[in-house]
Amino acid sequence: GGDGPLKGRHVLVTSGPTHEPIDPVRYIANRSSGKQGHAIAAAAAQAGARVTLVSGPVNLPDPFGVEVCRVESAREMLAAVEAALPADVAIFAAAVADWRAAREASEKMKKDGGALPTLALTENPDILATIAQRVEGRPGLVIGFAAETQNVVAYAQAKRARKGCDWIVANDVSAQSGIPGGVMGGDSNEVRLITEAGVEAWPPASKSEVAARLIARIIAATGPEETR
Ligand code: C5P
Repeated sequence: GGDGPLKGRHVLVTSGPTHEPIDPVRYIANRSSGKQGHAIAAAAAQAGARVTLVSGPVNLPDPFGVEVCRVESAREMLAAVEAALPADVAIFAAAVADWRAAREASEKMKKDGGALPTLALTENPDILATIAQRVEGRPGLVIGFAAETQNVVAYAQAKRARKGCDWIVANDVSAQSGIPGGVMGGDSNEVRLITEAGVEAWPPASKSEVAARLIARIIAATGPEETR
C-alpha cells in the first residue's frame, strides 16, 4: 500500500482466464486477456491500496506495486482468493471457466484408432458467489463482472441478485458491441455499472480509463480513510 485515497485498504482483484486441465498437455480455456482486471489492480495500487491480484494465465507484466498470485484452474483461483482474505473491496474480473473436465487424465490421452474419447464436464465453483455470500469475512464491497451478448442490463441485474454481489460491471461482448476488434482481448471497453441504485452507462473508453473510473467510484462510495 502507498499514499492516496485507498491508503490502508486491501483490494483483492481476480483477472484473466482459467485453464482447466484435461490431461498433462491439454486444457480448456477462454479468450480473456486479463487486460481489464490487471488495469483495475494497477489503478487500485496507484490510489494507495494494498492490492492482491489473483491471476489466471496471461501474457501481461505484473502491475506496479501489486502482489500477484498466479493460478491456473478455477479451484486454484478460489483457494488463492480465500487465502488472500480479509479484503475491504473484492473485484472479480476473471473469466472463470464454468466447467472443467470431470476427470483429469494422469497420462496423455492417446489417439489409438479406436473410439473417440468423450469429455465429461463438471461444474466449477462460482468464486464471486462464494465470496459474496460469505457470512463471516465478506468484503465490504463485492464487485462482479458480466459479459453478455444480449439483454445486457436485464441479465446483469439478475446476476447481481443471484450472486449476492453489490455491483456488477456489465459489458456487451457481442460482435455488434461497437468496440472495433471486440472487447475480449482488445484495449477498450464500454460498460454499465449496475448498483442497488440503478444503472450508470459509461462512455466507451480504454480499459485503463474504465479501471480509473471504477476505482474513483469505489472511493466515492466507501469514503475517505478518516471516516472509516
Ligand atoms: O455467471 P458469469 O460467469 O457470467 O458471472 C461473471 C462474474 O462471476 C464475473 O465477475 C466472474 O469473475 C465471476 N465468476 C466467478 N467464478 C465462476 C464464474 C464466474 O468468480 N466460476
